[in-house]
Amino acid sequence: MKTAVYPGSFDPITNGHLDIINRASKVFDHLIVGVLINPEKQGLFNIEERVKLIQKVVKDIPNVKVESFSGLLIDFMKKNDIQVIVKGLRAVSDFEYEFQMSLMNKKLDSDKETVFMMTSAMNSYLSSSSVKQVAMFGGCIKGLVPEEIRFDIINKINRVYKKC
Ligand code: PNS
Repeated sequence: MKTAVYPGSFDPITNGHLDIINRASKVFDHLIVGVLINPEKQGLFNIEERVKLIQKVVKDIPNVKVESFSGLLIDFMKKNDIQVIVKGLRAVSDFEYEFQMSLMNKKLDSDKETVFMMTSAMNSYLSSSSVKQVAMFGGCIKGLVPEEIRFDIINKINRVYKKC
């Protein structure tokens, strides 16, 4: 049985992330979406909110679980018997950072493999930050995030930035 982790900040999950989750769930027996608890980076959504948003969109994929983790990804993998890291690559600009991170993880534990999936062309420009920026300035985020959480994101942004 092969278990993979798809790690990230997911602040919030976008259609680009969901595409990778859907595809990776068909390749691996189990997929854990690992949401990083990063005390140095205060996001828009807190960890519980991010986990809940992801759970809402993956609820019909039986082999996908969502969990938060802190510290080293490799340690989270060891504790949960996870063998593979799945990452999405959008463009050449992602490559250098991802390559460096995969080598560091390999150095920390040579038994773990990182597998890259090319993001689907229609999502290649998408990022959580750009989605937040569009929503913050009142732009339409339809088609950029899973439809069932679109209004959770808009409402949160309105509460935080527009104080209503
Ligand atoms: O969505 P992001 O912010 O690009 O995700 C980055 C993430 C969570 C994959 C990465 O920061 C991570 O794995 N952090 C855990 C700390 C760690 O294991 N660092 C060692 C590898 S450099």
